[in-house]
Amino acid sequence: MKVILDCDPGHDDAIAIILAASRISPLELEAITTVAGNVEVEKNTLNALKVCDMIGLESVPVAQGATGPLVRKAVIAEEIHGESGLDGPKLPRHPSKTAIDQHAVDVIIEKLLTTNEPITLIPTGPLTNIALALIKEPRIKNNIREIVLMGGGTFGNWTPAAEFNIYVDAEAAKVVFESGIPIKMFGLDVTHQVLATKQTVADLKSINHTIATFVSELLSFFIQAYKNQFDFDGGPIHDACTVAHLIDPTIFTFDHVHVDIETKGEYSYGMTVIDKHGVTGKQPNVYIAKGLDQGKFWSLFYNAIASYAE
Ligand code: BDR
Ligand code: CA
Repeated sequence: MKVILDCDPGHDDAIAIILAASRISPLELEAITTVAGNVEVEKNTLNALKVCDMIGLESVPVAQGATGPLVRKAVIAEEIHGESGLDGPKLPRHPSKTAIDQHAVDVIIEKLLTTNEPITLIPTGPLTNIALALIKEPRIKNNIREIVLMGGGTFGNWTPAAEFNIYVDAEAAKVVFESGIPIKMFGLDVTHQVLATKQTVADLKSINHTIATFVSELLSFFIQAYKNQFDFDGGPIHDACTVAHLIDPTIFTFDHVHVDIETKGEYSYGMTVIDKHGVTGKQPNVYIAKGLDQGKFWSLFYNAIASYAE
């Protein structure tokens, strides 16, 4: 299955890349594209390149995208991901890989217009690049199999109402959610059930392999950031849920509902307004992940990481 991972690495974005490129993954990564989000887009791109270096992902092009949201000023999440966007692990200072000389939006458009089979988009950051691609070249819709994204939820983590990815660029999210393209949404309700703990870090260390150690260092930093920021015990591996679902579609359960994006509210900007009980009478436009088989998720997670040692 052909996919494009549009991300802002980011600890959990990095883990999404690692799962997608693992030996147990049937996903064919057409490109990794980056967007302004957790930190500035240049840093997110450098981080994506460093992750590719770490895992030996040479052939997949990395392309840099939007420097900021469609309408509003950029917001970053250094509190969670550190100044570099990927603080914690020891990483190559200068990755051997470089980004291609083409804007992410044009890469997404070109891949979708020239593909011989539909491509799944996996956005794990703000939806700016995806919205821009849809605005610039609406014909790409026909070749998008579905959009499997991390964002939103019935509660927020950036404001009481809004999750970070949707909050950063709610106007872009509105374009995507109103596009008519099939969407699966992994929001906070489900990603907060996918918690890495100190035990996860210890288990990864005991694998005693570079990639497992890398993931353990990512999670160690991330868990501490969640403790400091939210007094949370455990780090939700938000973005990795999207990829885990695509590798094994039996892990997560979904509700089919209508979701609108709030772009005007004084207190609710960036909220995903979820019509759980069908009160709007609007046709469902999103499959929202609601639960998971913990055993299946964690065995996929460890198998994927251990597969790098084979
Ligand atoms: C989302 O925000 C980012 O900080 C994470 O990488 C994830 O995509 C969670 O709200
Ligand atoms: Ca992210």
